[in-house]
Amino acid sequence: MRIDPWASEQYTDYARLRDEFGIEEFKADGLPNPQKLFRRGIVFGSRGFETIQNAIDRKQDFIILTGLMPSGNMHIGHKMLIDQVIYYQSIGAEIYIAVADIESWGARNLPLEEAREVAIQQYVVSYIAMGLKPENCQIYFQSKRKSVLDLSYKLGRKINLSEMRAIYGFDEGTNMAHAFAPLVQVGDITHPQLDEYSGPHPLLVPVGVDQDPHMRLTRGLTAAHRYFNVTKTKDERIGVFVKLDDNVDKLLDDAESKLTTMGFSDFEKIYAYKALYVNDAGEVDIPFMDNTLLEVEREHGGYGFYLPASTYHRFMTGLTGGKMSSSDPDSSIFLTDEPEVGKQKSMNAKTGGRVSQEEQRKFGGRPDECVVFELYLYHLTEDDNELTEIYETCKGGSRMCGPCKRNAADLMANFLKELQEKRENAKEMVDEYIVNN
Ligand code: TRP
Ligand code: SF4
Repeated sequence: MRIDPWASEQYTDYARLRDEFGIEEFKADGLPNPQKLFRRGIVFGSRGFETIQNAIDRKQDFIILTGLMPSGNMHIGHKMLIDQVIYYQSIGAEIYIAVADIESWGARNLPLEEAREVAIQQYVVSYIAMGLKPENCQIYFQSKRKSVLDLSYKLGRKINLSEMRAIYGFDEGTNMAHAFAPLVQVGDITHPQLDEYSGPHPLLVPVGVDQDPHMRLTRGLTAAHRYFNVTKTKDERIGVFVKLDDNVDKLLDDAESKLTTMGFSDFEKIYAYKALYVNDAGEVDIPFMDNTLLEVEREHGGYGFYLPASTYHRFMTGLTGGKMSSSDPDSSIFLTDEPEVGKQKSMNAKTGGRVSQEEQRKFGGRPDECVVFELYLYHLTEDDNELTEIYETCKGGSRMCGPCKRNAADLMANFLKELQEKRENAKEMVDEYIVNN
């Protein structure tokens, strides 16, 4: 199986995705006051989250970076991502949001100026209306940020064409702007750790699982540029190996003194093997040793980037049962839909109800196959008890689709009405968020 970030496929077998791609199960237990998407398992997977959890536990600064594809209207499925960003902002994270205008040019043929307009009117204004704060937050355009593009070229040095094809399935006909877009995303994800931005920090990229290929690429390239490789060796020891050919002895000496500050003391250093064995370290220590050694790497002129972490959320089913997509207005509710339109669309959504009320009472409804239930689950109720109640009464046969839908449709109309009122004020605040370089 291959995940194609640009295909209109819906990936729904989350357990298989985890197994096949080594995505870890995401546990929200360690988050302070987790937001509903976390509590309800909608954020289902992660890579490298322990670095972020550690920062949260120790009250250390961390960065959230994510991006938006400005190629269509923002719909309620896209809202999930910004809900998470706003949550992380509320617990103190610094926020970077990339507008993927280079990607939308390469992969969707959208001119940069149009991308800018769509990004602002459809996304940024709604983000502000939803509660994103301007403090410690910047929204930038890929095409305007030189450091992002520089990193694309520089980090791209360590991946070749055939590896890119293996990840993305590019073929002879792929245009080069498209082929280059993933590297621009690598630049997006890594650049906040440059000194001219926030400097080295744990960094998390919350995204939909379709973006996992880009995360694998970015984590791979970040790791490839490391000076040290910390791993468990065949004889079950934890070894620190220098990956460069120059300055090896000094790198090993510096690594040893740095690891001493972490509390390790049982070392064996073999210059000829470019190796430092740390006998009192265990496998669980590896990510933390890695992060500590980044300081040595920087002292020696390397990037010293923390490996970016990621989390993955599920996708909402489209209202008509397929994928929710900006290009199919019936499948999605746009945040700029008139409240009445949003209400109608909710009324037309596919349910998990039975053919008649009688059968519904007898066999119960099927909330697991019901898009209306998904609307409640993802958006319409904050209250977990209420959600459970909807689920149970549906399954138990005492809840009927008519009133259940009408209730959802009213909540949706209200949500749109309130959001759109807020959007009016938000329009004047856009400049507080956007950085033009
Ligand atoms: N590729 C993303 C999308 O299609 C947009 C994006 C660009 C992005 N840069 C990013 C997402 C950095 C996360 C991080 O939606
Ligand atoms: Fe869906 Fe509500 Fe009908 Fe249950 S009662 S199937 S949740 S619409």
